[in-house]
Amino acid sequence: PAGNCFIAVVHLKTIKENLVINEIEAYIEEKRAEINPRYRLHYHVAPPVGWMNDPNGFSFYKGQFHLFYQFYPYESQWGPMHWGHSVSPNLVDWKTLPTALVPEEEMCFSGSAVVKDDEMVLMYTGRTTTDEEPFYNETQYLAFSNDGIEFHKYEGNPVLPYTPNGSPDFRDPKVWKHGEHWYVVIGSKTDDERGRVLLYRSPDLISWEFLSVIGESSGDMGYMWECPDFFQLKGKHILLMSPQGLVPQGDRYKNVHQTGYIIGKFSYETFEFVPEISFQEIDFGHDFYAATTTEKDGKRYLVAWFNMWDVPHPEDVDGWAGAMTIIRELELVGNRIVMKPVETITTLREETVWDGNLMENEFVQLDKTGELLITGDLSQNIELLIKGSNGGGQVVLQWDPQVRKVVVDREGDIRQVEWLPLGSEQWRIFLDASSLELFCGEGEVVFSTRVYPDGGWQVTNLSPQPLDTIAYTLRRSVPE
Ligand code: FRU
Repeated sequence: PAGNCFIAVVHLKTIKENLVINEIEAYIEEKRAEINPRYRLHYHVAPPVGWMNDPNGFSFYKGQFHLFYQFYPYESQWGPMHWGHSVSPNLVDWKTLPTALVPEEEMCFSGSAVVKDDEMVLMYTGRTTTDEEPFYNETQYLAFSNDGIEFHKYEGNPVLPYTPNGSPDFRDPKVWKHGEHWYVVIGSKTDDERGRVLLYRSPDLISWEFLSVIGESSGDMGYMWECPDFFQLKGKHILLMSPQGLVPQGDRYKNVHQTGYIIGKFSYETFEFVPEISFQEIDFGHDFYAATTTEKDGKRYLVAWFNMWDVPHPEDVDGWAGAMTIIRELELVGNRIVMKPVETITTLREETVWDGNLMENEFVQLDKTGELLITGDLSQNIELLIKGSNGGGQVVLQWDPQVRKVVVDREGDIRQVEWLPLGSEQWRIFLDASSLELFCGEGEVVFSTRVYPDGGWQVTNLSPQPLDTIAYTLRRSVPE
């Protein structure tokens, strides 16, 4: 009888959760019709309505990739966090599923997903408010699903309620399995406001033991490390994370917050991570944060929030805000990570609108989407103007052979970085209705930048040299 009683309680809870979710879905359906489509992305995941930030729970379960995200349906501003949900068979065609997690006493902050005994388990940060300074607390929660669509929260939440130093900043768990154990890295800070990442271990995802601090700012690496991820590439360990509070240094750290990585060696005996290189940014564009990865068939895929905190998001007046980058595949080459667009992205190519030299002042006209492959002579200047065909937002891409830098100039707001091609000297540029992603060469330098054109795109060669150019339109692969 005790067992039956437990089942009845779980059942009631699920019914209540489903009712709330049905209400949200009905609201989304109604609001969808009011969205102004001008900046809506055609092949990037974006919220159906309302606000999106970090990617969460990027994983593979029951034949599909799952990509959850920080979601607030009711306004195109940040609010009490839900988890939105998209799935894809191939990392380019995405479908929206019902909202996965809804806030109750806790806001559902960022986290990750694993598969345990055929069940999908989400681990996320529950952020609660308190009466006393600092007026919030963060602990780790679990939610389960048998179908990857409906989730129920664990009755015994939170499973991981405190940090070694009592810091209330304790968020964004990234879980993985190694041998018999589950491990998790979680972002936090020291008492004197230095960002750090904590490592824990569990036999069952429910009881957790603190192991070590695997990374910590010595003072100049920011006050909080958000969204950590920890994985292997070619036998090395990579700590990926999003530190807040780095001070700009020349061309580096120009965004409000950064995302990057440290490469090193890690031991499952001592739980010590020994860095071999200092922190490197992983993307040099204006809008890239809170990146996270997943592994499938030996390949490591990354996705990031294609926006930045505390900057304007011009689409918000249209009823939505926020997007995900295209999925990238990571590789370790020497002591750096290179990042290529996922291979399946070529299945989006529709029509070849240009194939041949693009002469000075000649331009390619595209509708809302495009992929351009451009090769020039790197001993000379390259300059490309990418602008709305009816005006609006624009970006100038430049290569300066004197300083060997690639420059992305978005209306005077410049991001630039040195580029030493490892092989290919091609630029691969992805344009969507309000975004640009530039992959240089083998992916050694990448820029992700939101830009808001009026109408479609016009790509003009402003350099004296002809540029060998192929341009495709890309089909829609996400819901309207
Ligand atoms: C990063 C972040 C996370 C947090 C989430 C809240 O962008 O601040 O640390 O879990 O967003 O929405």
